[in-house]
Amino acid sequence: MAIKIEHGVFQIETADTMYQMKVDAFGVLNHLWYGAKTGCVMDYLLDYPDVGFSGNIYEAENQRTYSLDTLPLEYASGGVGDFRVPAISVTHENGSCALDLRYQEYHIVKGKCRIPGLPAVYAADDKAETLEIVLKDTATDVIVILKYGVLEQENVITRSVVVCNQGKTPVILNRVHSLCMDIPYGDWEWIHFHGRHTKERQVERAALIHGIQESSSGRGMSSHQQNPTVLLCERNTTENYGFCMGAALLYSGGFQTQIERDQLDQTRIVMGIHPDTFAWQLEEGDSFYAPEVMLSCSDKGFAELSHRFHHVIRNNVCRGKYKLSPRPVLINNWEATYFDFNSTKIEEIARQASALGIDMMVLDDGWFGKRDSDCSGLGDWVVNEKKLQGGLGRLIGRINDLGMKFGIWMEPEMVSEDSELYRSHPEWAIRIPGRAPMRGRYQLALDMSNPEVIRYLHRVISKILRENNIEYVKWDINRSICDWYTPTLPERRQLELPHRYILGLYELLERLTGEFPDILFEGCCGGGGRFDAGMLYYCPQTWCSDDTDAHERTVIQYGTSFFYPISTVGSHVSAVPNHQTGRMTSIQARGAVAMAGSFGYELDLNTLSEEEKQEVKEQVKTYKRYQDLIYNGLYYRVCDPMAGKLSVWEFVAKDQSEVLVQGVVYRAEPNELRKRVRLTGLAEEAEYQVEGEETVYTGAALMAGGILLPEIKGDDVAIQICLKRTDR
Ligand code: GLA
Repeated sequence: MAIKIEHGVFQIETADTMYQMKVDAFGVLNHLWYGAKTGCVMDYLLDYPDVGFSGNIYEAENQRTYSLDTLPLEYASGGVGDFRVPAISVTHENGSCALDLRYQEYHIVKGKCRIPGLPAVYAADDKAETLEIVLKDTATDVIVILKYGVLEQENVITRSVVVCNQGKTPVILNRVHSLCMDIPYGDWEWIHFHGRHTKERQVERAALIHGIQESSSGRGMSSHQQNPTVLLCERNTTENYGFCMGAALLYSGGFQTQIERDQLDQTRIVMGIHPDTFAWQLEEGDSFYAPEVMLSCSDKGFAELSHRFHHVIRNNVCRGKYKLSPRPVLINNWEATYFDFNSTKIEEIARQASALGIDMMVLDDGWFGKRDSDCSGLGDWVVNEKKLQGGLGRLIGRINDLGMKFGIWMEPEMVSEDSELYRSHPEWAIRIPGRAPMRGRYQLALDMSNPEVIRYLHRVISKILRENNIEYVKWDINRSICDWYTPTLPERRQLELPHRYILGLYELLERLTGEFPDILFEGCCGGGGRFDAGMLYYCPQTWCSDDTDAHERTVIQYGTSFFYPISTVGSHVSAVPNHQTGRMTSIQARGAVAMAGSFGYELDLNTLSEEEKQEVKEQVKTYKRYQDLIYNGLYYRVCDPMAGKLSVWEFVAKDQSEVLVQGVVYRAEPNELRKRVRLTGLAEEAEYQVEGEETVYTGAALMAGGILLPEIKGDDVAIQICLKRTDR
């Protein structure tokens, strides 16, 4: 039993971690602990100082030391004396905003809780349990249910929240965060992942300042600029040492992570839907479901924490036929042709690709409607026969005749003003009456909260997928969303639109992925602007970035790897000079970097030299040979690319019998010693041999002494070293 309750103490134990809460004498639920197992109730750490201007609850009478403002709270509400950042804030019918949540009861439910309309971690009923703790406002009938899903073996605890209005009048929810955790001890640093288009998930690590720090997105999507994941760690934590905890939100809309270091040096973290673009009117008898957060922690550094997230996302978040199976090596025509193609050009690319062993041809943007540039056509999901004479059927037939699968790009959530769809349904685009809308890449967003829009999209998309042998869909979205307004909601409820948009998106994805279980869906948002665990529930991989430059990608993929498994990272070899940076890198370096993901190509192979084509053929073979190790092995970040010299990573088979070391050395320098990298995760006593070499090393030597990288000449030189265990 992972969940134990004794004397008001709630204890959740996973294989290696422990989470504790306690109901105190006033019915307030205190947070006690999240970390290693201690075998002890951690309430001895609770301190009750008399802090000036931190007031006391009425029932505490003259006890000046009992303050909601200083205690570690499990789910902090506003307006009743805790002046730190709240997890929940509401407005009652009389305009007041207080909420004072006290413990009512608990339930333990077999299996892992699901959330209506939202993605959630799933598990077999005998592999998970759910704890529900019911809190109630002291003065109204607002009920808050805290849900804790426990995946004991995976060392993952999920949190989500349901708010129920059991009163007679509506309540406005202004903020309902999914996670709230107070940590009364420790000197924490936080790591978050920031960036911009073509430069996603840059790692930033900083000491906490007193006050509130935040990473968030109000863009209607999880965003390129910030990612809905966060790490807290001790100052000395490294890849293989020290304590760290991580949280990842399963949500693809605007989000907010706030961390507050308070007057007593305590730390509070809250995470959930961004309150600036959210409000919800909760009618009598209704419930609101906040999205789920996955939590994990490790006292052995970031690598172990990443492994836990990789495992749970791959096994308990991603779904469908492709969740664990090898993915086809694909070739995408976007950087090869942009909008300028016809069937002949696509067939030529496919013919060359099939000769080199590539499995699937993906037709990107421009195949539909009037779409010769990004100024028009979105919304008209009908094949453009001027470009594709004979339609999709003929093209797909020819691709299939080459022995290749066929995949297609779509951007269903968007509409161009110059489109048949917009001309017939201007009211389906999100914009505010009487106000000029913001355009992003010349386009507007469709109102995904409107059931008619969802019905339309479902009808046109399922028709294409039914009538054609399409085995992959790239589901793109290419602008941030603002101008939130929908004619389908009354005036006072307009701020419900951003969340309803995401609910509409999820509903559509749920239906389509259910109806077309054999299709591989890849998420995309101008590259990796919606790389989050919510999208991964529907699409088991995401196009990681529109920056395909191998050098830049080492940094982007490094940041991505802290939470997201390698199988979820769409990564392609593209042409040089690179289209985003103008950088020249060798085909070997581009191959090594793209192999640390779901591998493919994105260039016209006909333009390569014979030598390069042979290299591509070898790369495809190598990838197929190592795909199982790459997807199912443990991934280690061996070098920090931010240090500027090299980027090296490593895949180690779970039984430690095989190791693939890959990377890029950024720059050759004269008179330099060969670079040495220390491997990790090997069996100390085992013997390993580098493929093609005689020398035998022990695991201990490779981890303590390291391995010498080959001497390099030139910039961005690829590293690819395979080691095999030879002692058994
Ligand atoms: C986005 C995607 C690209 C490509 C283009 C097409 O930017 O990230 O890969 O599909 O759209 O317009």
